[in-house]
Amino acid sequence: MSMKGLEIVVTGATDGIGKVTARELAKKGANVTVVSRNAEKGERVVKELRAAAGHNGVQFVQADLMTLKGMRGAAEALKGRLKRLDVLVNNAGAIFQKYETTSDGIEKTFALNHLGYFVLTLGLLDLLKAAERARIVNVASQAHVGAKLDFANLQNATSYSAWRAYSQSKLANVYFTYALAQRLKGTRVTANCLHPGFVASRFGDETSGIFRVLFGIVKSIGAISEEDGAKTSIFLASAPDVADQSGLYFDKCKAVRSSKVSYDEAAARELWLASEKLAGL
Ligand SMILES: NC(=O)c1ccc[n+]([C@@H]2O[C@H](COP(=O)([O-])OP(=O)(O)OC[C@H]3O[C@@H](n4cnc5c(N)ncnc54)[C@H](OP(=O)(O)O)[C@@H]3O)[C@@H](O)[C@H]2O)c1
Repeated sequence: MSMKGLEIVVTGATDGIGKVTARELAKKGANVTVVSRNAEKGERVVKELRAAAGHNGVQFVQADLMTLKGMRGAAEALKGRLKRLDVLVNNAGAIFQKYETTSDGIEKTFALNHLGYFVLTLGLLDLLKAAERARIVNVASQAHVGAKLDFANLQNATSYSAWRAYSQSKLANVYFTYALAQRLKGTRVTANCLHPGFVASRFGDETSGIFRVLFGIVKSIGAISEEDGAKTSIFLASAPDVADQSGLYFDKCKAVRSSKVSYDEAAARELWLASEKLAGL
C-alpha cells in the first residue's frame, strides 16, 4: 500500500526496530520524522533512510525522551513542522541496570519507556486529530506478562530490579494504549500496542558485566532479526485491515490477549493520573 504524502513520526528510530520501521514506511512513500537523542547519528540515519526510500521526505528531530523537557520539546518541534500527523510510532525504549533518576528526579525506565510515550502522545493529539485518519502505535513487549504496578512504589525507589522496572514499564505501555483508545472513541484516531518479538537489536548493549553477557547469549540463541522485529509495527502503522481497530495488543501482526492484569481499568486510570501529575499536565 502506498503511503505517499502521509506524515509519520517514529521515536527511537536511529537504531534497531525503530530504524527498520522508519525505513520501511519511508520506502512506502511516507514522510518520516525520526525522533532520537543523538544528533550526529540522526543526521547519518536520515541520509541512509533517504537513500533507501528514494526520496527526501525523511527528517530528524533531536530530543532526549527521558526528560520532560525533551518530551515537550519534541512535541513542540513537531507541531512547528507538521500541519497534521497520520501515524505516531512510540518506540524509543531501554533497560537500565541500576536505579538512576533523570534531571526531573524520575526513575529512568519509567521516564523513557512510559512517560516518553505518554507526554509525547498527549502533546501531539491535536496534530493526530487534524489528520483524516490517524494511528498511534505503541511498542510494548511480552515482558509485561507477570508484571504488576505497585502504586506505592511506582518507580521502584525502595527496591530496584532492572527486569521488574522494565516489565512494569511495558505493562504501562499496554495500560496507556487501552486507556487512550477509550478516550479516543468517537475520533478518527486509533491506538494499539504490540510485542515485536525477541529481537537481536542493540537493546541491552548499554548494560555491563553478567547482565550484558546474558543478553548476548540469549540474543545469539533465540533472537529474530530487526527486520522481522519491525513487522508488527509496520503492519499497525500501514495495513488497511487495522485502520479501524483500536485498543488492542498485537503479536506477529495478529491481535492477541495481553496479560490478565493489563485489563484492570482502575489500575490504568490510576497510572494515567500519576503520569499526569509527574508530567505536570
Ligand atoms: N529488542 C527486543 O527484543 C525487544 C523486545 C520487546 C520490546 N522491545 C521494545 O522495542 C523498542 C525498541 O527497542 P530496540 O530493541 O530497537 O532497541 P535499540 O536497538 O536499543 O534502539 C533503541 C532506540 O531508542 C533510542 N533511544 C534510547 N534512549 C533514548 C532517549 N533517551 N531519547 C530518545 N531516544 C532514545 C535509541 O537511540 P540511540 O541510537 O541514540 O541509542 C535507539 O534509536 C523498545 O521500546 C523496547 O522496549 C524490544
